[in-house]
Amino acid sequence: MNKALILAGGLGKRMNSPRPKVVHEILGKPLINWVIDAAIAAGVDEIGVVIGYGADEVRDKLPNTVKVYIQRRQLGTADAVKSAMDFLDGRVVILYGDAPLVRSITIKRLIDSESDMSVLTSNVKTPKGYGRIVKEKGKISEIVEDCDASDEELKIREINSGMYSFESDALKYALLNIKANNKKGEYYLTDAVNILLKNRKTVDTIEVEDETEILGANSQKELADLSQIAQKRILDGLMNDGVTIEDPSSTFIGPDAQIAAGAILKPFTFIYGKSKVAFNAIIGPQATLKNTYVGEKSAVLRSDCDDAIIGKECSVGPFSRLRPGTRLENGVKIGNFVEVKNSHLFRKVKAQHLTYLGDANIGEETNVGAGTITCNYDGVKKSKTLIGKHAFIGSNSALVAPVEIGERALIAAGSVITENVPAYALAFGRARQKNKKEWVLKKMEESHEE
Ligand code: UD1
Ligand code: CA
Repeated sequence: MNKALILAGGLGKRMNSPRPKVVHEILGKPLINWVIDAAIAAGVDEIGVVIGYGADEVRDKLPNTVKVYIQRRQLGTADAVKSAMDFLDGRVVILYGDAPLVRSITIKRLIDSESDMSVLTSNVKTPKGYGRIVKEKGKISEIVEDCDASDEELKIREINSGMYSFESDALKYALLNIKANNKKGEYYLTDAVNILLKNRKTVDTIEVEDETEILGANSQKELADLSQIAQKRILDGLMNDGVTIEDPSSTFIGPDAQIAAGAILKPFTFIYGKSKVAFNAIIGPQATLKNTYVGEKSAVLRSDCDDAIIGKECSVGPFSRLRPGTRLENGVKIGNFVEVKNSHLFRKVKAQHLTYLGDANIGEETNVGAGTITCNYDGVKKSKTLIGKHAFIGSNSALVAPVEIGERALIAAGSVITENVPAYALAFGRARQKNKKEWVLKKMEESHEE
């Protein structure tokens, strides 16, 4: 059995934010979820999270597979672990909810440790603020906190990441013996090193090469710095895998997006959540995808797509908005100033200009004219608009739902359609035009006579 316990009880004072630190996001994903997902990817059997400050807000972000422990008062890192005492069993890895860039391979190294305690360390350029790893004859002898360190100790560049691997019996023993006798008056988990060594337990260090893995976000500035590091890591990985990214400095891709080789990402593109982009798709410039699928050879230009499925060879935009529940089959064309919500558009439907399609089903090859509106809401409830295949909806039509329009039906421009239209019918929902011959001329003559 191996487990990961993530500490996320702290307030994060230096964030200067009313929200708990670990719910702040980088690349569209809360810090705590980066850590949870890295632990899952590393293959841990169970995850526990210690929360305290802003507990409700943090809990909202947690998947229901994790066990939640509450630390009532933030008395230090050892106290935080103590509040999850009954979680401790077998091999336990301790991680921080505010250190999101730890890689799953690194967590795997911690899981695989066979020592009673392994401390994840890194040699860094600026060790200020971190606990220092004090070594004797090449072996760790203690961890000294920055504020408790001597001038000599402050020069040490190998620092404590705060992440550890413990054999849980050893951990429990240490927790029961840690005292708060230090400058901050806190229970330091780092004191476990001393306590376990005294009891002839095995304590060692595991060094991580890439120091960005252990960085925490303690302030808004550091949050932004981590975001840039994460962005670079993700984009470098994608470019390596054959994705074209025209301007990495203005392209933002979350850690859970999947972009196929051969896709082209143009400047000012944001791809967040569990989005997926197939090969030869072109996204941007200025496109935002959230939890959206884009099929092969489709293009999304200057548009916003949220929880949408876009088939192959579709074109979306410029200035389109696809809202949740939008499903475009292959070859659909959505043009400028078109909004689609909870609607299924079958093969080769076209809605090219100034349109709202909500709660609609539209059959293949139907043409939706400029300015068409599905009136799906009567102020109380939402209703469906069903349109058959090969229909033609004239410009500026209002389709008052619930309503059904049969296949190959033709709706005259400017119609207000309140009744179903049978297949193959022509429907006029407007007054017929009258031309009064020479009416203007007569008016002119009248005024002349006066
Ligand atoms: C800790 C380590 C330090 C290490 C550094 C790495 C100790 C005593 N020191 O210092 O050696 O270099 O991390 O970043 O452990 N937390 C709780 N409850 C608490 C206190 C903290 O849940 O009562 C959580 C915080 O939310 C945070 C983590 O534990 O995720 C670390 O706490 P923090 O106060 O930032 O520790 P540091 O003083 O930075
Ligand atoms: Ca910290």
